[in-house]
Amino acid sequence: MRVLVTGVSGAIGRTVAPGLTALGHEVRGLDLVEPDDELAGVLGADVLVGDVVDLADQAVAGVDAVVHLAGRPSESSLPEALSSHAHTTAALLDAMVRSGVGRLVYASSNHAVGMTPRGEQVGVDVRPRPDTFYGVAKVTAEALMSLYADRFEITAVAMRIGSFLEEPTTRRALSTWLSPDDAVRLVAAALTTDAPGFSAVYGISANTRAWWDLEPGRRLGYDPQDDAETYASTIPHRDEDEAEGDRVGGPYAVMPLEKPLP
Ligand SMILES: NC(=O)c1ccc[n+]([C@@H]2O[C@H](COP(=O)([O-])OP(=O)(O)OC[C@H]3O[C@@H](n4cnc5c(N)ncnc54)[C@H](O)[C@@H]3O)[C@@H](O)[C@H]2O)c1
Repeated sequence: MRVLVTGVSGAIGRTVAPGLTALGHEVRGLDLVEPDDELAGVLGADVLVGDVVDLADQAVAGVDAVVHLAGRPSESSLPEALSSHAHTTAALLDAMVRSGVGRLVYASSNHAVGMTPRGEQVGVDVRPRPDTFYGVAKVTAEALMSLYADRFEITAVAMRIGSFLEEPTTRRALSTWLSPDDAVRLVAAALTTDAPGFSAVYGISANTRAWWDLEPGRRLGYDPQDDAETYASTIPHRDEDEAEGDRVGGPYAVMPLEKPLP
């Protein structure tokens, strides 16, 4: 497939773009930031530098699908959060309708349901329960995807990513970790699933202590291979661990609104 990856210079983008290329997809990159030499070597000349909202039409022209990873991955004011997550998603969806592009895969977040109390494994059928303005913006982006899926027959997969990290570094991450290789597996599955319409899935690895249900992802063909448990004995206890365990959003569920975590 020809795939636009927005946010390609970011942490997830610089992992997913080469991963998709290795699977045989052709990747066009878009980011505010120029790719570094290593990423540029993967992307070749097919790179756009600028804001998603300004470049959406040019960026989606000629692609089969969009993987939207551009956005600020932390708390901010409500207008900034909506601009970063909802407005960029809307701009891409509008451009996709104009160009006849039928598939969007989006980096949503566990913080869309972050105030959900810990307990039984959380499914994708819980009500939206954001923990921050960041989470509100992710809920809004998911609602836009649902709207455009229903109105314009776009296949739209919202990946509620947990913690994308090389390795889990906290007790919470033993439950929420998404490994780099599993991130590629998840995006690849979302790009090729034949499930129609809008789907939300949890973007975590096959963690023994998972807080979120992996079945919705498995139904789309996601087959995670990594488990944070491998690292459990290396993770030191922190005083914050207990408070971070009450709600699935962890530290976001107890932090002040508008200000990113230090
Ligand atoms: N990292 C995680 O654990 C995690 C968890 C849940 C969700 N997410 C979501 O995944 C996405 C990617 O996260 P990340 O960790 O790679 O973040 P990142 O900050 O490392 O990368 C984001 C990239 O998007 C680019 N960008 C931001 N706004 C843009 C715009 N308007 N137009 C063009 N480019 C823009 C930035 O320049 C950056 O390179 C974000 O939407 C984030 O909310 C990440």
